[in-house]
Amino acid sequence: MAFPTKTIETFVKAGYPIIYLVSWEEERVENTIRSIGKGLYPDSPRFSVWSCTDGLEDGAGPSGESKGLLEALDKVLEEPGKGFYFFKDIGFYLGDPRVVRKLKDAYQKLRKTPKTLFILASSVDIPPELEKEMAVIDIDLPDRAETGKIFDYIIKSHAGEALRNSMSPTFREASINALQGLGALEMELALRRTLVGRDGLGDEAVDALLEEKAQLVRKTGTLDFVRSRVDIDEVGGLENIKEWLDVRRLAFSSEAKEFGLDVPKGVLLMGISGCGKSLCAKAIATSWNLPLLRLDLNQVYSESQGSPEEAFRKAIKTVEATAPCVLWIDEIEAGITRSGEKSGDSPTSRIFGYFLTWMQEKKYPVFVTATANQIDLLPPEILRKGRFDEIFFVTLPNQKERREIFRIHLLNRGKNPADFDLDSLAKNTEGLSGAEIEQAVISALFESFSREKELTDRELIIAASSIVPLSTTMREEISKLERWASNRAVKASR
Ligand SMILES: Nc1ncnc2c1ncn2[C@@H]1O[C@H](COP(=O)(O)OP(=O)(O)O)[C@@H](O)[C@H]1O
Ligand SMILES: [Mg+2]
Repeated sequence: MAFPTKTIETFVKAGYPIIYLVSWEEERVENTIRSIGKGLYPDSPRFSVWSCTDGLEDGAGPSGESKGLLEALDKVLEEPGKGFYFFKDIGFYLGDPRVVRKLKDAYQKLRKTPKTLFILASSVDIPPELEKEMAVIDIDLPDRAETGKIFDYIIKSHAGEALRNSMSPTFREASINALQGLGALEMELALRRTLVGRDGLGDEAVDALLEEKAQLVRKTGTLDFVRSRVDIDEVGGLENIKEWLDVRRLAFSSEAKEFGLDVPKGVLLMGISGCGKSLCAKAIATSWNLPLLRLDLNQVYSESQGSPEEAFRKAIKTVEATAPCVLWIDEIEAGITRSGEKSGDSPTSRIFGYFLTWMQEKKYPVFVTATANQIDLLPPEILRKGRFDEIFFVTLPNQKERREIFRIHLLNRGKNPADFDLDSLAKNTEGLSGAEIEQAVISALFESFSREKELTDRELIIAASSIVPLSTTMREEISKLERWASNRAVKASR
């Protein structure tokens, strides 16, 4: 979505005295509000900015006056004329009853004047006493049109003529795609870094830009822009999932939309660990050719990125701006049940509620792939229809699947599968998970390498038989899982 300029103008014209803007992009929001002000009041474009360090400033440089918030609000009420007042950092003060009182007064007094108070905060944290007084506007990250403007501006101001002439026909479009999900400042930064020392603008530059973006996204702490690509052919078995995905591979195209199809919401892959759930999550993004963002719920709750609500909200904003994309939430149960936490109004249950609502009402083409190992920890709400399109149960590979998994991992390590008796390998490895088969291949390779021999079936069988599979140590849990899933989920394998 675009910057909500029209909405803001409407609120101002309708006489809303206090507008609460939610964004962590200070500079972008300030600049846009400033230009909205100029557009509405071309004759007297007053625009004063308050911050706790510089006080109230009206364009002539910091006056150092009215550093105190109460004092600054008084000044706004006294000043004649019309204009915009833009308050930063105010979130820290909203717990102060005097500030609440002053804002209520401001609401009453400013209602009759052509003055508007803007409050900028990075999360919605409004005391209930003030909820009625404020119009809250949530500001999305730059959309494609705005990104295009930023792109054009940076290319014009930072790329020399030769570099500009070297631009491949698709470079602009590909760069705009790559930049989605970043804030305006971050976009500028990523682009400028990409231009440095470059003598051509083509695929390689787009790749560098994607790398810049991955770095910037990683800085959010909660999201990872996953660039490693996993081909669906690298996943052994799980035919039902593959078929489901194949039927929907064009679901994000405009043709599908015209045809009247809804964009798929997501899948939940649950089951035994080491059987390819995470692998599948990566393969979905690759096979649909969509960017993949991984959300780390443990980071969301760690509070290292602000309150969990704020961290989650910020992550979702980034994801929405990147749409169409795949959002991968690995081991979602970790985010739902936290040990030592009482249910009820805990951050986890609040965020989980927020997540479910977001899933249900999602306006952006974001496909959620969630995985879960400990499914008994999942609350029933998540399994309810309307949240995920499908719930798949992933269990230990059958013989045919084990054959395929052996083939894949031998191939991945440069061996020719035709040199091995895959059928007998598969037959002799009942109970092994995909991860354990991979582990057998790796240790057999070590073994034969250290003996300076070629890898043969023999080493593979020995390596496989020395693994104590999870299916043995966790027999009880696994059969419990299977019983639990039998009437709640679709089998991932045929
Ligand atoms: N079905 C499979 N096909 C191919 N490789 C597999 C499969 N299942 C597991 N593996 C291997 O084991 C590794 C770990 O599996 P992973 O997808 O992380 O399991 P899960 O998320 O279900 O615990 C994968 O990266 C892959 O190398
Ligand atoms: Mg996993």
